[in-house]
Amino acid sequence: MSAPASGAAVRLRDLEIAYGGEPVAQVDLSIEPGEIVVLLGPSGCGKSTLLRALSGLLRPSAGSAEVDGVAVGSGAEQCAMMFQEDALLPWRTARRNVEFALKLRGAPRGERRGEARELLAQVGLQDFADHLPSALSGGMRQRVQLARTLATRPRVLLMDEPFGALDAQTRTEMQRLLISVWQRYRTTVLFVTHDVDEALLLADRIVLLTARPARTQRIVTITEPRAPGARFEPEFARLRYEILAGLGESADSSADLATIIEN
Ligand SMILES: Nc1ncnc2c1ncn2[C@@H]1O[C@H](COP(=O)(O)OP(=O)(O)OP(=O)(O)O)[C@@H](O)[C@H]1O
Ligand SMILES: [Mg+2]
Repeated sequence: MSAPASGAAVRLRDLEIAYGGEPVAQVDLSIEPGEIVVLLGPSGCGKSTLLRALSGLLRPSAGSAEVDGVAVGSGAEQCAMMFQEDALLPWRTARRNVEFALKLRGAPRGERRGEARELLAQVGLQDFADHLPSALSGGMRQRVQLARTLATRPRVLLMDEPFGALDAQTRTEMQRLLISVWQRYRTTVLFVTHDVDEALLLADRIVLLTARPARTQRIVTITEPRAPGARFEPEFARLRYEILAGLGESADSSADLATIIEN
């Protein structure tokens, strides 16, 4: 008999992933439907490994992972992954990249063109549908990737430092875009970043991970997630300091707190 559905969108039960017998991640975590959870942790701690396990690319060495109550690895993968590096097909236009994802989803041929146009409009690229990736900026290519990822209608969107390679301004635009797209689709998101501000701007909850093997060190719940102007609130500065301290940066210097608040 299968276990009763837990109601959670993602359920990691003492999930352990090992490389060559060495555990890389050991995590117990539930994510509610429609929640944005951000993973923050030292480089090499196992964040990408966790995402790969959720997308079914890696088998756990212990424990289990479920998406909507269905075990990951059972064939019906329900997560879509979006990476920092651009994974578009270079010989297809933006629209045809999205149409390709629609085809993989099984969308009827006659509906693909219209749906691709709508998805591209969602990410602000209605005027660039017929451009090849090489004729788009880095930020635009990430927008196409987002449209293409949404085209598969994933239950969970796995985002591995998706904006890490973008300049600060484009990154801010992409964060706003992600929030507006999320407000429309309410897809559950598991997002990895190294940027504490990005985590604070996007998350309902931030999971701080320890160094390898990644274990939950602390979970920070944001009381008013994605509130406009939040970055100017003292609460934002306080959480930012706490998180940096949790990650082992600026932990001992009380001067840093003043600097963070002033900035
Ligand atoms: N295929 C592999 N075989 C063996 N070890 C691996 C493999 N992939 C990753 N590792 C190791 O597992 C650990 C976790 O890697 P992972 O890529 O998950 O880290 P990460 O938290 O995503 O790091 P970063 O923040 O730098 O992206 C690292 O020590 C890495 O060297
Ligand atoms: Mg990584």
